[in-house]
Amino acid sequence: MLLENKVAAIFNPANKRSIAWAIAQELDAQGAQLFLGYQNERTKGNVEKLAEELTKPPLALIPLDVTDDEQLANAAAVIKQSSHNLDILVHSLAFAPRECLEKPFLETSREAFAMAMDISAYSLTALCHSFSPLMNDGASIMAMSYFGAEKVIPNYNVMGVAKAALEASVRYLAYDLGPRQIRVNAISAGPLNTLAARGVSGFVDMLDLYKERTPLKRGISGEEVARTALYLASNLSSGVTGETIYVDAGYNIMGLTEER
Ligand SMILES: NC(=O)c1ccc[n+]([C@@H]2O[C@H](COP(=O)([O-])OP(=O)(O)OC[C@H]3O[C@@H](n4cnc5c(N)ncnc54)[C@H](O)[C@@H]3O)[C@@H](O)[C@H]2O)c1
Repeated sequence: MLLENKVAAIFNPANKRSIAWAIAQELDAQGAQLFLGYQNERTKGNVEKLAEELTKPPLALIPLDVTDDEQLANAAAVIKQSSHNLDILVHSLAFAPRECLEKPFLETSREAFAMAMDISAYSLTALCHSFSPLMNDGASIMAMSYFGAEKVIPNYNVMGVAKAALEASVRYLAYDLGPRQIRVNAISAGPLNTLAARGVSGFVDMLDLYKERTPLKRGISGEEVARTALYLASNLSSGVTGETIYVDAGYNIMGLTEER
């Protein structure tokens, strides 16, 4: 058990396909006790049901819409009242208005840009700021990113810009929290068929293309992302901070692919 006596907070699973849920299962199996977040009443029921599958009941289910400072303060209060400190914080949430993931990036409105950046990038800093007083020294924080942060992925658009900001935030937060031995990293996952991903126009075709073009000649699974999350959450990665780690079957190393 790599995470015995460790406490993790995971924001936010939506359903059984969520990367956050794959990570929750892995950390639970390795002994961690969990706080699980949910965005709103629509996802609350799903998360309650999923929580029943854990080997231990969660310490609490915490409502958290990251655009709401009151809910952020409430989430911190729930953790504080539990008298547990956090060893692991998982940021696995993102949002951009649907039209941004269909129309050309050129047409992104000011409002949509601000919303995508607020929810998908700034929220990591907000979470770290709210929760770092509740974290043990040596804690591990991680966020989920995607290759669209670095290279153009058609239709990913403003989400790619937000992921670039998220990855840069990871580096700055790693610097600020480093003196406490708190590590901050990103996992850049290959495409997975989740609710959020299906919002990107053409996602399913992209998934097929992806499988042909990776060195491993396949896609990835949520479990593979979760096992890298376990590595980042545990002492195995004690010297690693500020990094973006790819779990993408090698897609990012390719310069040119030949059709076979
Ligand atoms: N699925 C993929 O292909 C893929 C690849 C790389 C990275 N990611 C990233 O993984 C993370 C998790 O996404 P997923 O694919 O598991 O999809 P998902 O739809 O299961 O999870 C997204 C979560 O974001 C939450 N969310 C949206 N707006 C929010 C808000 N205002 N406040 C709080 N929570 C909010 C939703 O409630 C949901 O639980 C995201 O950061 C996503 O960008 C996904």
